[in-house]
Amino acid sequence: MRVLLASAELSPLVKAGGLGDAVAGLRGALIRAGLDVETVIPDYRGWRLDKSEPQPLDVPEWAAPASAHRGRMADGSRLTLIDVPEIRRPHPYDDTEGHAFPDNDQRFMAFAAAVAALAEMDPPDILHLNDWHTGPILGFLDEPPPSILTIHNLAYQGRINGGWLDDLPHRADAYEWFGDLNPLSGAIALADRVTTVSPTFASEIVVDGNGFGLEEPLRNRGSALVGILNGLDTEVWNPANDRLLDHSFGLGQLDGKAHLRAELVDRLGWHLDGPLISMVTRITDQKGIDIALSVVPYLDGIGARFALLGSGDAALAAEARALATAHADRFTFLEGYDEQMAHLLFAGADLYLMPSRFEPCGLTQMQAMRYGTIPVTSAVGGLVDTVVDDDLSRGHGTGFLAHDVSPTGLVDALHRAVRAWRSPRRRSGIQRRGMTIDWSWDVAAREYLALYESLTQ
Ligand code: ADP
Ligand code: GLC
Repeated sequence: MRVLLASAELSPLVKAGGLGDAVAGLRGALIRAGLDVETVIPDYRGWRLDKSEPQPLDVPEWAAPASAHRGRMADGSRLTLIDVPEIRRPHPYDDTEGHAFPDNDQRFMAFAAAVAALAEMDPPDILHLNDWHTGPILGFLDEPPPSILTIHNLAYQGRINGGWLDDLPHRADAYEWFGDLNPLSGAIALADRVTTVSPTFASEIVVDGNGFGLEEPLRNRGSALVGILNGLDTEVWNPANDRLLDHSFGLGQLDGKAHLRAELVDRLGWHLDGPLISMVTRITDQKGIDIALSVVPYLDGIGARFALLGSGDAALAAEARALATAHADRFTFLEGYDEQMAHLLFAGADLYLMPSRFEPCGLTQMQAMRYGTIPVTSAVGGLVDTVVDDDLSRGHGTGFLAHDVSPTGLVDALHRAVRAWRSPRRRSGIQRRGMTIDWSWDVAAREYLALYESLTQ
């Protein structure tokens, strides 16, 4: 079966968040399952794949010139890079200040037109779209192949000026959204199947007030909307063999984790007498950064210390910086995007904080569990599907859930987690259960494969 998998991100080439990881993980598992997968992404940096020459693509004049460099990655897998005007930038979406490029409408509409031209030239059995950047593709195709849209983040819809509707040759009505063009709502209406990255998120977003305005179009899809839980790249996230860490560890031999904890504490310049909490995140409203920051004044009472790594929203980052100055002995803010530090924070910490307001899936709570770090999260979306509260399910839990997504809800969950962490038997039971879960993408890939088959038989 030939799958054309379209995305704006693909780890490790280009990643702004979990989208890049998720597409890379799914692609790898589908290839392992024997599918012929052509992944297509924008050529943001003029990457050199192999010696093959780019092929020109037949796109409308406003998107020209467009070309597809259909090559192979070092491991032999197929990757196609799309070049359209102005797509080449150091960051896929934002300038150095974190502001979206003003021409993202033109850049991603041209990308979508080019992917559609590619699909027309060489039709796949399945066209698998990911997030809004790929949504308009169905409006550029006369006869689209069987298609799936995976929604990684419903909050980003890529809504643009309605004038663009005139540039969609097919089914433009489906994309019309209160006078604008909404790439995501259009693809939700048109794709043969719509998936979210966790089952709970799929059930949340059809409820009024939870679907970012798209509740109605989502409800209209009925049973064509399904949730498939993301996996983790268990080679990149492997405590037994992590190239970014100085020590390895595993179940039943946690010495390496203790060494990494000592290394982390040393790097943070702290002397540790209680639990160490970490958080690795984009700094955005979604992630409940303000809620996480509101626990800082309580850390003294809890006897814990907290290290936050992240970048994003300028106002929230300024707040974090100010708190780090005022509570330097308890809280530190590591500003930036740093994969090595992220791995150290997942491996070396005791507890992992994630008070998201909404979470389509979330990968970091899984990354924490894989490294024996106990997650303390809000009870929303994919977090409900991946974390089991050990107070509600004693002896079966893998973390702690705050049902009330608020400062008091989080402090309560944190207190409960610290109590469990202070009991060596309970702590190791929770760690062991988290570390043994099979997060591999092969599980999810089987579900996607069943969907593909249901569309092609
Ligand atoms: P989202 O996609 O909403 O940002 P996810 O939890 O799905 O959230 O995925 C985020 C990914 O990005 C994870 O692999 C996480 O480890 C990584 N990440 C997030 N922030 C940082 C950071 N500041 N430095 C390094 N890695 C980060
Ligand atoms: C999004 C979501 C996150 C999800 C990721 C990968 O960025 O915010 O919850 O894990 O996509 O699917």
